Amino acid sequence: MWDMILLSILILVIVAGVYMLYSFIFGAAYFPSYDIQSLRRAVKKSLELFKDQDQIVFADLGSGFGRVCFEVVKIDHKIKCVGVEIDPIKVFWSRLMASIKRLEDRVVFIRGDIRKTDTRGFDIIYMFLWPGITREIEEKIFRDRGRTRVIISLEHPLRLGRVEKLGKYYIEYIS
Ligand SMILES: C[S@@+](CC[C@H](N)C(=O)[O-])C[C@H]1O[C@@H](n2cnc3c(N)ncnc32)[C@H](O)[C@@H]1O
Repeated sequence: MWDMILLSILILVIVAGVYMLYSFIFGAAYFPSYDIQSLRRAVKKSLELFKDQDQIVFADLGSGFGRVCFEVVKIDHKIKCVGVEIDPIKVFWSRLMASIKRLEDRVVFIRGDIRKTDTRGFDIIYMFLWPGITREIEEKIFRDRGRTRVIISLEHPLRLGRVEKLGKYYIEYIS
């Protein structure tokens, strides 16, 4: 009896571990953002650049279960958040949470590959990925030449614009 229970727990732990890691093949495994307090400060600081806008489009590229979007829309009523995520289960969960929280008009989750996502309509772009894909997407944002004025990256450095550091967050300003 105990053998079966222990075996089931072991299988569950392995399945959960594989699930967290498998998206690595697309560019980054799953791990939730932390130190949300510093992220809030980074976003608040960036908002000064958008004083004249009625709406600020924030994007979380690789949005996981949607937590970052749910946090940033609390910061300012002008923020709308777009999460882009490759894993359909995480997208399904994020959309479900958006409807439970009644935030469908402020947060949108799109299933897609961030390497192919058009970034031109995003004012602030957030990433918590892996170093290689972070550099790749940063270069793409500069190439896309859209309205993006701020990129925020957790843990992995940004290099192409003026960069400040706040805790483990890199904040890059595009002029
Ligand atoms: C480290 S997690 C960050 C999750 C969330 N942004 C957060 O900070 O809590 C990275 C996420 O990026 C997703 N991801 C990895 N490669 C991707 C790709 N090429 N396109 C879209 N999403 C991707 C993974 O599935 C994972 O959910």
